[in-house]
Amino acid sequence: MISSKNIGKLLKIIKNSKKNENIYLQISKLGIKETTKNRKHNFSIVENKIINNLKLNNIYESIIEILVPILRKNNKIVIAQIGQSIDGRIALINGNSHYINEKKGIKYLHCLRSVCDAVVVGSNTIKKDNPKLTTRKIKGTNPKRIIIDGSLSLTNKYKIFNDGYQNIIFTKSKKNKKLRNTTIIKLDNKNFTKNIIKQINKLEYKYILIEGGSKTISEFINNKYIDLLQFIIAPVIIGSGINSLNLKKITNLKKAIRPKYSYNFLSKEFVINLFLNS
Ligand SMILES: NC(=O)c1ccc[n+]([C@@H]2O[C@H](COP(=O)([O-])OP(=O)(O)OC[C@H]3O[C@@H](n4cnc5c(N)ncnc54)[C@H](OP(=O)(O)O)[C@@H]3O)[C@@H](O)[C@H]2O)c1
Repeated sequence: MISSKNIGKLLKIIKNSKKNENIYLQISKLGIKETTKNRKHNFSIVENKIINNLKLNNIYESIIEILVPILRKNNKIVIAQIGQSIDGRIALINGNSHYINEKKGIKYLHCLRSVCDAVVVGSNTIKKDNPKLTTRKIKGTNPKRIIIDGSLSLTNKYKIFNDGYQNIIFTKSKKNKKLRNTTIIKLDNKNFTKNIIKQINKLEYKYILIEGGSKTISEFINNKYIDLLQFIIAPVIIGSGINSLNLKKITNLKKAIRPKYSYNFLSKEFVINLFLNS
């Protein structure tokens, strides 16, 4: 049985396996045991194909199908994830985004966070959503939190400054401000996004999740930092609101980004994976 209690561990075993290595696991109430081809096993990855002999709840089946190919790539990867309506909105004009996607999808997001070393968001997302950016819906490791707060306008009232976990803020402001549990790194205003990327690269994280919002993800796409852009598309029309992306303007469709892609389902929603750097 795969549940919120062991999915984190399962994903971690897969993440730590080598690219083409076959994995044989015996999953039971007692835990997950790594075993071999000839011993009892009920979940395996053989020649990169998932062979599952467990009865899986729909959401965990989808999570495994989406994440295993990503985890088996074994490369350093920057993933941007966008939950949006079919007309490309990630929030209403007033910033409310709860909930465009099915609530079940939160489990997926927490699984994705649990395999990432760091999660990055912009200051507006903190102001509008007041997220914790943890993996509390499953048993998993919390990623390090990185917040981009250009003008250093955040205050201690937000949850991320009050749960005891550490944060890093990148800013271009010269203000002398202190925020609880937070290292503030001041960067040059000129080429701010490139400076942020340099700093994140120095931290040598393998899996980085850019969670939004629109400005943060768009700036990183403009700077070619995103390897995998993942849309989770709810069959919902909002008709107005914040667009998921605001990229550099183009005047010729030949310049549109047409990357390699794959798709999955997450319960009743579509997941489109765009591989921007391959
Ligand atoms: N549906 C989803 O998947 C999802 C996910 C996350 C967020 N959201 C929604 O998205 C909305 C927020 O998105 P948003 O686009 O307004 O804001 P955002 O990307 O969350 O934050 C933007 C702010 O972060 C700073 N920033 C981030 N990257 C920067 C860069 N490269 N260069 C300079 N400054 C940078 C700037 O701060 P300064 O202005 O101080 O310079 C900027 O104004 C919220 O309503 C939230 O609910 C939806």
